[in-house]
Amino acid sequence: APGAQQFIPPKADTLDDLRAAAAGCRGCELYRDASQTVFGRGDASARVVFVGEQPGDMEDQKGLPFVGPAGRLLRRAVDDAGLEAGHIYLTNAVKHFRFELRGKRRIHQTPDRVHITACRPWLVAEFTQLNPEVVVVLGATAAKALLGPTFRVTRQRGELLPWPAAAQHPEDFQRVPVDSAGHTADAPPARLLATIHPSAVLRADNQEVAYDGLVADLTVVARTLT
Ligand code: URA
Ligand code: SF4
Repeated sequence: APGAQQFIPPKADTLDDLRAAAAGCRGCELYRDASQTVFGRGDASARVVFVGEQPGDMEDQKGLPFVGPAGRLLRRAVDDAGLEAGHIYLTNAVKHFRFELRGKRRIHQTPDRVHITACRPWLVAEFTQLNPEVVVVLGATAAKALLGPTFRVTRQRGELLPWPAAAQHPEDFQRVPVDSAGHTADAPPARLLATIHPSAVLRADNQEVAYDGLVADLTVVARTLT
């Protein structure tokens, strides 16, 4: 697969430029069966960036990330952790819905490594426009995209990790912190925290315990915001 890189406009200087270009991405096979590209949403000045797996059925139909059941749960957890919804940017490691048709039902399929790799340039491009204090990695797929295949969410969840030293290809994440006046700012470097994916909370045997774990991890994030 050729990957997304060739679809990224060299002179994109806003998230809207990137979003518009991503609508036409053909960087892997997933665009064919999905309805549309689901790009990130939120403000470029967001203090916390959440990276999920890929859009689900509902997100695919609406064209927006985290608008389905997992998104509802995530928003509730964000609120319970004391994070402000307006301070958040939401995106996914893979920007098209991968599914398998079973009758008329579209069943979610976890993206493969080829899809994560193909789509990664969009995530990197988003980070060139963002300057968050914390990046929250939701589940294994996002962890693979940002931390490489050996990272285990279950082992390191809830820990604040350095960024970009924690990233597998830190050279892709050379952030240029710029303040609202366009000056390079002395922003504190972003940190990263991995946690359970909200869909995994919905699938857990004990949803209440899983949910409380997610909120506990997000509370760590809320406490670090200055
Ligand atoms: N799950 C994700 O990872 N992302 C979404 O946007 C929705 C569900
Ligand atoms: Fe492009 Fe990503 Fe969609 Fe593949 S999943 S077509 S790389 S936007």
